Amino acid sequence: MRIPLLDLQAQYLTIKEEINQAIQNVLDSSVYILGPQMKALEKEIAAYCGTKEAVAVANGTDALVLTLKAYGIGPGDEVITSPFTFFASAETVAQVGATPVFVDIDPITLNMNLNQLEDKITARTKAIIPVHIFGQMLDVERVMEIAARHGLIVIEDAAQAIGAEYRGRKAGSIGNAGTFSFFPTKNLGAYGDGGMIVTNDEHLADQLRMLRFHGCRTKYYHDEIGYNSRLDELQAAILRVKLKFLDHWNQGRREKAAYFDEHLPQSITLPGRDPNALPIYHLYVLRTKNRKDLMDRLAEGGVASAIYYPVPLHLQKAFRNLGYKTGDFPVAEKACEQALAIPCYSELTIEQLEWIVELINKGE
Ligand SMILES: Cc1ncc(COP(=O)(O)O)c(C=O)c1O
Repeated sequence: MRIPLLDLQAQYLTIKEEINQAIQNVLDSSVYILGPQMKALEKEIAAYCGTKEAVAVANGTDALVLTLKAYGIGPGDEVITSPFTFFASAETVAQVGATPVFVDIDPITLNMNLNQLEDKITARTKAIIPVHIFGQMLDVERVMEIAARHGLIVIEDAAQAIGAEYRGRKAGSIGNAGTFSFFPTKNLGAYGDGGMIVTNDEHLADQLRMLRFHGCRTKYYHDEIGYNSRLDELQAAILRVKLKFLDHWNQGRREKAAYFDEHLPQSITLPGRDPNALPIYHLYVLRTKNRKDLMDRLAEGGVASAIYYPVPLHLQKAFRNLGYKTGDFPVAEKACEQALAIPCYSELTIEQLEWIVELINKGE
């Protein structure tokens, strides 16, 4: 039995007719950039998240860069984030000329440890980027309280968490802004790149719309140096179809995750849950001391698995200049040694689930 980490083909087959029609409609319209599909998707995502505004951009990385820029964050400023995330969460801080500052993660949820957050705040700190890792939200209300005490901006990196909730509030909707990625493997994935910012701050939304289009509000009149960062009509049309199924797919992932939680052996550390969070399992990441053996055993049985993440951000070559060393964030470092993602998506069959569990149980 061959089980990929994610089966985009199986998902496509369930919505093929609607997707093909949506693509055909865009081709028939011959409108490709900044058109009605993108605008409709912005409205639908804002409604889905419960925010006033949503601004579509070219990818999740740009969503962070443009938001940082719009808030005027740049050289001399510090932005606090997690060392256990995809590179873009901190890369974007450096891209705007600011300095990423890391805070270690919670050993249960692997999200930023909020008990240590305030210690990292200095006179230079301008913003906090909490990341909802693997699709489980952290307590952004608490981050907002800390931020309010110090006059800081909070940008939720919700790239992996669209549809996730914390005490009934949606990912992206609690901070000053929230950013999403529509990279194909995300829970709401385009068939190419895409990204979005959600916010209740209308001034921010206006700034973002200006920045994504060369600093322009009126064609050929440029108020600022901006970017070329738009979500094209084909991707927007595809995402509009897929958005209708997002809750169903997320629920499917939760059901598969519950199966693993129940059937995996004691020797495996299951993904840690915050009882206030409703996760969407962008990835089901277990932890084991025998990761290499487990990966080999799964591969021999035809099951894909992947390491998220092999290197914490503070030890990345690109951040050598920040002066961090091994031992600075021990929880993140240990997670990088033990974390392993196994397949967890709506289309998995019971036979596939049983096979994955059997392979894992074999060696434990
Ligand atoms: C946590 C996180 N932040 C940011 C990004 C960047 O998104 P994109 O790949 O769409 O630029 C990703 C995804 O790749 C991510 O997982």
